[in-house]
Amino acid sequence: MERVSGKGKDVYIETFGCQMNEDDSERLFAFLNEIDFQKTDEPEDADLIILNTCSIREKAEQKVYSTLGRLKALKKKNPDLIIGISGCVAQQEGQRLLKRIPHLDLVIGTQNIHRVDALLKEVSTKGARVVANELSATISSGEYRPRLRDVKKVKSFVSIMRGCNNFCSYCIVPYVRGSEVSRPSPEILEEVKTLASGGTKEVTLLGQNVNSYGTSGGGDVSFPELLTSVCRVEGIERVRFITSHPKDISMELLELFSAERKLCRNIHLPVQSGSDKVLERMKRGYTADEYLEKVFLLKRLYPGTSISTDIIVGFPGEEERDFEATMEVVKVVEFDSIFSFKYSPRPGTLAAKFTDQVPPDVRSRRLEVLQAEQKQITIKKNKALEGKTVEVLVEGRSKASEDELTGRTPCNRVVNFPGELALAGSIIEVLITQAYSNSLRAVPIERSLLCC
Ligand code: 5AD
Ligand code: SF4
Repeated sequence: MERVSGKGKDVYIETFGCQMNEDDSERLFAFLNEIDFQKTDEPEDADLIILNTCSIREKAEQKVYSTLGRLKALKKKNPDLIIGISGCVAQQEGQRLLKRIPHLDLVIGTQNIHRVDALLKEVSTKGARVVANELSATISSGEYRPRLRDVKKVKSFVSIMRGCNNFCSYCIVPYVRGSEVSRPSPEILEEVKTLASGGTKEVTLLGQNVNSYGTSGGGDVSFPELLTSVCRVEGIERVRFITSHPKDISMELLELFSAERKLCRNIHLPVQSGSDKVLERMKRGYTADEYLEKVFLLKRLYPGTSISTDIIVGFPGEEERDFEATMEVVKVVEFDSIFSFKYSPRPGTLAAKFTDQVPPDVRSRRLEVLQAEQKQITIKKNKALEGKTVEVLVEGRSKASEDELTGRTPCNRVVNFPGELALAGSIIEVLITQAYSNSLRAVPIERSLLCC
């Protein structure tokens, strides 16, 4: 098929939501760049605007509609402007979006990114308004190609699988991302090698549930085997992975924390709740004690491993004592960081039909209490690093100050320090001088004393 030419044309992509969406946006741009589109940071300058959207909570979805509303004026000014929406809201709403948003031209579902060229052609040559949101049980060849080779990025995400088969009762992901499929490992390794040859030093392997990589179609090796191979790629200095489901985490995986030097001792292990009653209604497949057992085993065997988590407060039927059980887990584990959310009913999910919804003001109060507790824990943990030497992978200029560089420790803490931009991409040792709640300040030093 004849291709659309983006020569001399600019695309503006705005990304909402999680790391999976960030990676999808990068892939989307790579496909557009193949047909000569360039990137712009200004929607006013764009010939094509795509919002890559998130529907995990109602608030995220509303943000998409208000942004789409603001684009109406741009379309009026420039009727040739093409406006598209991709990601989870596109997948979920499909055709309904075209009805609701008259100035919308294109709806690209979560598994149709690689078709953007053909879809644009229908819009630009036939003047059609197009929806592509079919879901498939397999990954078609070329879906994850291409990868931009000319962008030097210190760190990068690499999707190793898509979809989710868990159907936690609150979650929209299995509906908008489809069933779980793993990418073949040779293709993943090829991508990591390409990134390494372009200067990437750190990769984060991405999946909704990375521990089940290779178990439900597509993958030809186990997740620990894949991780081991990725750690062996020359030029890659650090490897991370997200997200791990607590029910699927194995000893074989944990052992890699000592076997593989490049694997950062850093794990995201969403607990969601500390109440067995709530966990059961969430369909999480573990009890609070089973979760704690794994966490304490991890802490005992691999000291210094940083653990982060996701928590939902105000899930239907959550009583005060259930919330207290969650607070208890937060206090005993002392997570390095938490991502906490008020429960948001998602149409079509099981939990949205539960009749014992928690009132919004109770959800808000619980979230405040939880976040205040965690803030103290994070500050305490960060303070304990003052005066210590840590390794930092230098990412580039700090957003906060032009004169400073920014990087992360193996435990994923943000560190800002003075230095020359030429250091970007190298791993250096710094002395932590001051701890804040979300970052650390430091000065570069010559020699390692110890690590966080
Ligand atoms: N309401 C609130 N939080 C949710 N999450 C997923 N679905 C919902 C929902 N309906 C949270 C979970 C998940 C994270 C990515 O988002 O904590 O781990
Ligand atoms: Fe959603 Fe549960 Fe799948 Fe995570 S594991 S994406 S919370 S259904």
